[in-house]
Amino acid sequence: MSSFGENTRLTIFGESHGEGIGAVLDGVPAGCRIDMDRVYAQMARRAPGKDKTATPRLEKDVPRVLSGMLDGVTTGAPIACLIENTNTRSGDYANLLEKPRPGHSDYTAFVKYGGNNDIRGGGHFSGRLTAPLVFAGAVLRQILETEGIKIAAHIESIGGVSDERFNPVCIGDELMERLSGSAFSLINTSVEEKMRAEVESARADGDSVGGVIECAVTGLPVGIGGPLFDGLEGQIAKAVFGIPAVKGVEFGAGFGSAKLRGSQNNDPFAVKDETVVTETNNCGGILGGISNGMPLVFRAAIKPTPSIAKEQKTVNLTSATDDLLAVRGRHDPCIVPRAVSVVEAAAAIAIFDLWC
Ligand SMILES: Cc1cc2nc3c(=O)[nH]c(=O)nc-3n(C[C@H](O)[C@H](O)[C@H](O)COP(=O)(O)O)c2cc1C
Repeated sequence: MSSFGENTRLTIFGESHGEGIGAVLDGVPAGCRIDMDRVYAQMARRAPGKDKTATPRLEKDVPRVLSGMLDGVTTGAPIACLIENTNTRSGDYANLLEKPRPGHSDYTAFVKYGGNNDIRGGGHFSGRLTAPLVFAGAVLRQILETEGIKIAAHIESIGGVSDERFNPVCIGDELMERLSGSAFSLINTSVEEKMRAEVESARADGDSVGGVIECAVTGLPVGIGGPLFDGLEGQIAKAVFGIPAVKGVEFGAGFGSAKLRGSQNNDPFAVKDETVVTETNNCGGILGGISNGMPLVFRAAIKPTPSIAKEQKTVNLTSATDDLLAVRGRHDPCIVPRAVSVVEAAAAIAIFDLWC
């Protein structure tokens, strides 16, 4: 099912070229003031059509709140939001039911749903379905902020070009605010041009490029999460893997920690300003599935956009023969810049559910 959460339940509905897409967010406490301009600002960071790293599709992505808010304050009823689909060009997708795109969901969805799935624009598998996810995250992160919990992500790399990583033991509010308001979020902004050149070179080749997004959560108190299956890592990973094109999630030193000795990987405890802290943060702020009060840091690997203009091998499902496909239509040569606010939203949803 397209739902997430036990205490706060998010359900996402819609198909890319249907009437509309949207979210129902249930379990949000009453009496929380939500600044809709800040919600729109987060959705604008995800929206396409802004620059050459994204598809030129102009999707307005204006969320219409149908219920759950009155005069900018949550009522305690489910918050329902609808985003109409306006900029669709379904003809671009006509041949994909027969010829599945390599790297996309066309083949698996065709088999699972017996060809009844809406293939137009990727249907329910489209990256467009992340617009309601960002809406929900933008609402919930405002409530988390009133508790001092802040979430921000940046582009850690695109292709072979890398930004600096977060200093995992000390991430200032100023940096968090700058990143979470930026359309091309970087710690070291001097790498922007090189990253854009990497995307442009893939686009010029009729190809695409992937990258990594690094996300930090600061202000989390000690004790959020739990052992085994309901831990912070599992919850965040589940929400982040809900984002199309995410193929890996790692916390703290992640896969790198497998190469260290215990003496190198363990984060020594210390007392600072009467608070227990750790001197390093290889665990990414999580021990035993529970927050330890240090910044929570994780990274998500985003694959290159599957729909590319370059001709690739596929099959014709009607004639059961080998075939070739060059994907038409307007696609992101790189998903990473647009997915930054989506990763932040997924983190907000996972943390809010546990924090409730
Ligand atoms: C913000 C965003 C935009 C995306 N745009 C495109 C796109 O333009 N073309 C495309 O083929 N895939 C795009 N994707 C990725 C596909 O939706 C995704 O690869 C596909 O549904 C298969 O899912 P999987 O990669 O998780 O296996 C986008 C994903 C996101 C998060």
